[in-house]
Amino acid sequence: MKIAIVGTGYVGLITGTCFANAGNDVTCLDIDPNKVKTLRKGKAPFFEPGLSEMMTKSINAGRLHFTDDPETAYWDASIIFICVGTPTGEDGRCNLSHVMGVADSISDSLDSFDVPPTVVVKSTVPVGTTHKVAQRLKGKYSIANCPEFLREGNAIDDFMNPDRVVCGVEDDRAKQNLEKVYAPFISDGHPIFFFDIHSSEMVKYASNAMLACKISFINEIASLCERNGANIERVRAGMCADSRIGNQFFKPGIGYGGSCFPKDTLAVMEMGDDANAPCLVNTAVHNLNQRQRKWFADRILKHFDNNLSGKKITLWGLAFKPNTDDVRDAPSIDIAKTLIEAGAQVSGFDPEACGTFHDEVPEVEIFKDMYEAANQSDALVICTEWAEFSSPNFDRLKSLLNEPVVFDGRNLYKRNEMANRGFNYYSVGRPTVELAIAK
Ligand code: UDX
Repeated sequence: MKIAIVGTGYVGLITGTCFANAGNDVTCLDIDPNKVKTLRKGKAPFFEPGLSEMMTKSINAGRLHFTDDPETAYWDASIIFICVGTPTGEDGRCNLSHVMGVADSISDSLDSFDVPPTVVVKSTVPVGTTHKVAQRLKGKYSIANCPEFLREGNAIDDFMNPDRVVCGVEDDRAKQNLEKVYAPFISDGHPIFFFDIHSSEMVKYASNAMLACKISFINEIASLCERNGANIERVRAGMCADSRIGNQFFKPGIGYGGSCFPKDTLAVMEMGDDANAPCLVNTAVHNLNQRQRKWFADRILKHFDNNLSGKKITLWGLAFKPNTDDVRDAPSIDIAKTLIEAGAQVSGFDPEACGTFHDEVPEVEIFKDMYEAANQSDALVICTEWAEFSSPNFDRLKSLLNEPVVFDGRNLYKRNEMANRGFNYYSVGRPTVELAIAK
């Protein structure tokens, strides 16, 4: 099939590359000519395991193209996916100007089609937006909504082997085109749903809100555990053995970040306010998530009697989660800023996100080596559970730190082992190991 993808951010680039890999003829459109030049060389503008390799393969096979010209992208396409961003605006609302701008540009080109393409809204949008896009398409059109559920760091596998594909359609051609384009990805029995457009739009928000809810819920229970002498890891294991509860997205930590959960919970709250049906659970989920990172930063301050002047603190892990260089709404940003405000000198290390983090918090001194970052620090703080942090050389770490204290925001280590190694060890939802080490 001939496919056009509008927007080469996370969703657009993964979608385009995976469709091209399946044999389709894909053209990705982006308004930034410099980005287009880089993409043509097979270079992804962000870190995602396996992406550049797959791009290069499809570019070399002549199936994946990049352009900044809308006419070139839309020409002869059977299906156009709108994958542009929907950032939270200054008023806290989902900004749809990019989506509507693309709708207008598609509309301008519709006259050149004998059979108009199916226009699919893949950007995450509030319920009703796909119909607003349809209203912009003058004359004949075929419209659909098809939310994307891929996770950063796992995006290729999520796209190639989706748990489900959700489509909102109103016309037969949209249904046939989506069935055809997704057929290679659902051949192992995963379902493809065809719903009405409003329900399809809602599935995306409801799914992300539910996952965010699980995280805030377990963080709330973790906080209760600490206050009552229980251990969240045991409580979690006991809960997750109940198949009705399950074990995914249920790890305690310093809260969720990224480009989706924070934005999408806010958007659900906004939809609730607009519909005069306030979303109380989502509001609590959002507030708990904000509280969680603040609580963790306060815990560090408390250890140092609220005085960090003259102290150096090292952060391991800056990305909002492992296997990405994305720092959007990362807890590490808020934690670093709080420590800096309290007078600390902050250093940081991340396997992929050093550059993106530096753009956000330039005051943090970035190191290319995790041990160098920790050298002569008064504490180590773990913000992201990268694999390389799970089994470090503890003796080396201890010898580098001025004070052997670790604040582990992701519960990477066993408390008794940290005690035996001689660390003051703080984690989330587990009794703290405080040794009789002078502060
Ligand atoms: C998410 C959804 O998973 C995906 O389906 C959607 O399309 C886009 O948003 P992503 O933002 O890439 O994907 O990250 P995800 O893996 O879902 O993690 C989100 C955040 O939750 C991270 O900050 C992560 O650290 C945190 N998290 C996740 C926890 O704190 N505990 C968990 O158990 C799981």
